[in-house]
Amino acid sequence: MADTTSLFSPYRMGKFNLSHRVVLAPMTRCRALNGIPNQALAEYYVQRSTPGGFLITEGTLVSPTAPGFPHVPGIYNEEQTQAWRKVVDAVHAKGSIIFCQLWHVGRASHPVYQPGGAAPISSTTKPVSARWRILLPDGSYGTYPKPQALATHEIPQIVDHYRQAAINAIRAGFDGIEIHGAHGYLIDQFLKDGINDRTDEYGESLENRCRFLIQLVKAVVNAIGAERVAVRISPAIDHLDAMDSNPLRLGLAVVERLNKVQREVGSKLTYLHVTQPRYTAYGQTETGRPGTEEEEANLMRNLRKTYEGTFMCSGGYTRELGLEAIAQGDADLVSYGRLFISNPDLVQRFKLNAPLSKYNRKTFYTQDPVVGYTDYPFLSKSRL
Ligand SMILES: Cc1cc2nc3c(=O)[nH]c(=O)nc-3n(C[C@H](O)[C@H](O)[C@H](O)COP(=O)(O)O)c2cc1C
Repeated sequence: MADTTSLFSPYRMGKFNLSHRVVLAPMTRCRALNGIPNQALAEYYVQRSTPGGFLITEGTLVSPTAPGFPHVPGIYNEEQTQAWRKVVDAVHAKGSIIFCQLWHVGRASHPVYQPGGAAPISSTTKPVSARWRILLPDGSYGTYPKPQALATHEIPQIVDHYRQAAINAIRAGFDGIEIHGAHGYLIDQFLKDGINDRTDEYGESLENRCRFLIQLVKAVVNAIGAERVAVRISPAIDHLDAMDSNPLRLGLAVVERLNKVQREVGSKLTYLHVTQPRYTAYGQTETGRPGTEEEEANLMRNLRKTYEGTFMCSGGYTRELGLEAIAQGDADLVSYGRLFISNPDLVQRFKLNAPLSKYNRKTFYTQDPVVGYTDYPFLSKSRL
């Protein structure tokens, strides 16, 4: 019998039974005024829920030093945790499974976002180069400041913030958490040799550069169980100068260490989420770093082959590319970002091969609770 696995066939993701493989990618949308999830967020996630579907939230702050965008939700205090509960309950009522993405931007911040106007923290004192601009609370763009490098003894405290945030997420009712180790943010600032210039046990060798991520994976796994923990990486994405001299080697180093954690705890993580090299984070341009299609496919296939668990890919997938990725066994799940912004019923549209609405970049990070957020149209009843 021919293999009929498709984007629309069910998938058992650890303890979760998914009815299809079209996942909502984590996306920062800057609508959680003052860091508190609200009714607008509930509406946005509910719109994108399907029975047995899987959603990943926007990057959610693990501590007061974590933000680098305006109005990003947090999950480090009680008020935020209780407010998330309402969002999660609404999504669960629609039958979807939802993970909270845990985020710390590290040096990709600005004193304006930091407690007491301090310099942001990182693995390094090197700032993000002037090639990149930071979105400030007033809607203007600024340059990234010089960060302060975390002292070795300060790192366990940051690990603990992730652990506590994961516990809060479970208390809020989330089905699990995804650790944001991608796109040039704090964890990636440790992973990439183009940024990490430390000489302590967190720098230089691959073992050392992976240490921060692996320590916090273990801390979170101990707190909430491996089957509720996922990891996102982007070894080949140079967003915010996150360059590595050998992305494939770095990616494999992370994957092998995650496999080891899984073997040690005797349980698999929920999934590994990898961003395609072709994509530049945040959709500023359509294509990312120069690299042949063959190189990209090689990187993804190698990580997929080596990782002992569920593999999710993201970045520039269309309906056709998603169908192809699943049919060829290149991934178990595909996460969709921009297309899901402008098509709340993306799953339905994909199933019907219906036309898609275009997204408007201008409203990706604005604060209106409706415009560019929950006002994208559903397919008219006549098409259903
Ligand atoms: C507006 C916007 C916000 C994003 N925010 C996040 C984020 O908070 N965390 C994250 O891991 N990725 C983030 N991304 C990347 C997406 O998860 C996704 O990988 C990316 O959009 C590529 O997929 P696409 O081609 O389907 O849009 C963001 C992307 C966009 C467009």
